[in-house]
Amino acid sequence: MKEQLIDIKNQAIRELDTISDITELEAFRVAYLGKKGFITSFLKKLGELPAEGRRDAGKLANQIKNEITQLIDAASKRLETERAQKASYIDVSLPGRRPPRGHLHPISQVNKEICDIFVKMGYKIVTGPNVELDYYNFEALNFPKDHPARDMQDTFYVSDKLVLRTQTSPMQVRVMERQQPPVSIISPGKVYRSDSDVSHTPMFHQVEGLLVDKGVTFGDLKGTLTHFVHEMFGKDTALRFRPSFFPFTEPSAEVDIQCVICQGKGCRTCSNTGWLEILGSGMVDPAVYAYVDYDPEVYSGFAFGMGIERVAMLKYGIDDIQLFFKNDMRFLSQF
Ligand code: DAH
Repeated sequence: MKEQLIDIKNQAIRELDTISDITELEAFRVAYLGKKGFITSFLKKLGELPAEGRRDAGKLANQIKNEITQLIDAASKRLETERAQKASYIDVSLPGRRPPRGHLHPISQVNKEICDIFVKMGYKIVTGPNVELDYYNFEALNFPKDHPARDMQDTFYVSDKLVLRTQTSPMQVRVMERQQPPVSIISPGKVYRSDSDVSHTPMFHQVEGLLVDKGVTFGDLKGTLTHFVHEMFGKDTALRFRPSFFPFTEPSAEVDIQCVICQGKGCRTCSNTGWLEILGSGMVDPAVYAYVDYDPEVYSGFAFGMGIERVAMLKYGIDDIQLFFKNDMRFLSQF
């Protein structure tokens, strides 16, 4: 009897040495101390023993049961310490984890692309205030008070004399006021109009362009903007100049490009015309020169303005302008 118990104990000690994780240890516990384990089975059979040996055998069995319990506790602690040590171990030979890298917002990207094209042609970038005097936003651009053209733009008024600029065109006047020709600038920035639907947001971005010098002609305007369209949308993109009206240019033209969706065949995006408007332009009206003391007999020039969101939408086939401002990473991360 006694030898049998000692054997069980020695076997347990040997087995315990080979155990390397918590699952194995639990199986071990069940094998020795569980309901059908060696020790429990032994204790159950005690009744079959002759009375005299029974007491000693029982005592020894319980003693061994306690010893094994203590061994299991110690092994459990040892395994837990080993696990924690492994978890905090740093393998310096592993390659580093790269933090996710952001990128410019699509509007910033397209803004940069537009500006780069003109900078390569020698234009200088200038910026100006978003809260603008009525004088620069309208008056000096030949929009007299009560002129119906003011209604084309749903203006946010800050006061009688101050507006949130509805266009980047006021930068034309600010620049010409400061310097005599030759002038060639582009001016990107935010503009504001009280308007909101799939193709309008109350704040959006424009780029303004202005070139004034001796002998500038409508041919220069056409050549410059054709070059821009070909750089921006590809060399094969057809474009046309369509007569239009702006108070600060005369003559004025809007530039259309062949519809990027249907290649000019006619579709919903281009209202079946095959063309999409991308910018406004024209020869600077002599009435504007009068505000900045340029002599219209000596100088001539052209100006243009375009919406950055619009260019981005046409370039990437996006049909909802609001997407640019919702900060949805599923949309933004595509660019
Ligand atoms: N400022 C005009 C707009 O917001 C766009 C524009 C048209 C700008 C003609 C120009 C221009 O410089 O010559 O609708």
